[in-house]
Amino acid sequence: MSKAGNKSEGADRVVSMEQSLCTVISNAEVMTGTYLMWLAAPGIAGSAQPGQFVTVRCADLVLRRPLSIHQSSSLMRGAPAGGEIALLYRIAGKGTLWLSQREAGEKLDVLGPAGRGFAVPTVAPHPSGATTTAAPVGVQGNRHQKPEGLLLAAGGVGIAPLVFLLQTVLEACAEQATPRCRLTLIHGASTAAQLHPFVRDQSSPFTAGALLPGSNRSRPSDLPEGVRFIPVTEDGSAGRKGLLTDVLPDFLGDADRVYACGPLDMYRTMAEMSAALRGAGEAQQSVKLRQCQVSLEVRMGCGFGACYSCTIKTRKGLRQVCRDGPVFQLDDIIWQEVKI
Ligand SMILES: Cc1cc2nc3c(=O)[nH]c(=O)nc-3n(C[C@H](O)[C@H](O)[C@H](O)COP(=O)(O)OP(=O)(O)OC[C@H]3O[C@@H](n4cnc5c(N)ncnc54)[C@H](O)[C@@H]3O)c2cc1C
Ligand code: FES
Repeated sequence: MSKAGNKSEGADRVVSMEQSLCTVISNAEVMTGTYLMWLAAPGIAGSAQPGQFVTVRCADLVLRRPLSIHQSSSLMRGAPAGGEIALLYRIAGKGTLWLSQREAGEKLDVLGPAGRGFAVPTVAPHPSGATTTAAPVGVQGNRHQKPEGLLLAAGGVGIAPLVFLLQTVLEACAEQATPRCRLTLIHGASTAAQLHPFVRDQSSPFTAGALLPGSNRSRPSDLPEGVRFIPVTEDGSAGRKGLLTDVLPDFLGDADRVYACGPLDMYRTMAEMSAALRGAGEAQQSVKLRQCQVSLEVRMGCGFGACYSCTIKTRKGLRQVCRDGPVFQLDDIIWQEVKI
């Protein structure tokens, strides 16, 4: 294990990455063409923040492949000591295909945690001692305000980092006497088979509290109690029919903060929707969308700020997605200029 020596310095925190040979604990197809892999990664699990990613060396491919951290055992009560992370990845090409063929016991070269993640509303200190930037859940200057509404919008495999975000917020809420957050997760997919299995597994009662790795790691954890789940499929085979962005406006009114991860088209539509709402005099809803924190997936070279291949134009100037992101505010990005 070695420290990569690349530090991403943000206004809020300093992120230190390390390169490790991580043992594959399990690797199984959980949705058609999408795999869930658990890795023993003590250094990364202990310091990762939701929205951060790792880069994985795949076979002899020159460029490492970036993948969001989907879960970390450091936030799970009762999790085995040592520290594990989960990745949820869709087979897109040769790197992810190679990954899908890895078996328990094999070692992977992993570098992370990388980038800046979501500003997480939490009152609980992270096990690593890292602090957070956003105001605590439900506090905002008045501890007696109604619980804060967090709306998470996941397009396809964009669910990956949002589950880690859920996990973090739930853990913070669990430490408080009264619930201080209301969580809504919208998950859009083309068809039922592409929805995260916790949608289709209605026979299983959702577990309360933290997400545990559980005895059966070949399937994703159930959604915890207290999370309102809204499945959306394009073909109407499960949940509401349409695109995620068709149903998003129905839930904006109840939201105080919005987080999203999904394809470029989804973000472009959200940006257009924000402008349309402003034009229609719905200033509050428009602002919620404009301030939405989005995780951007662009093609990356090095993954740690050295090659500039991930540079995008934002309203604040040029930014490197791997170092300054991958999480940005929706309104900061000049969407017409972003190419994947
Ligand atoms: C910060 C970040 C986090 C990511 N997290 C996840 C995740 O949690 N789960 C997941 O399934 N995928 C995630 N991705 C996308 C993932 O990195 C790519 O799918 C992967 O690198 C493709 O590698 P490949 O060798 O399998 O495919 P390649 O042969 O390299 O490419 C196959 C196809 O995928 C497209 N592609 C390649 N790289 C990217 C990319 N970075 N973003 C979008 N499309 C790409 C190519 O244009 C091509 O059409 C993330 C990307 C970034 C930048
Ligand atoms: S991928 Fe090399 S600078 Fe971002």
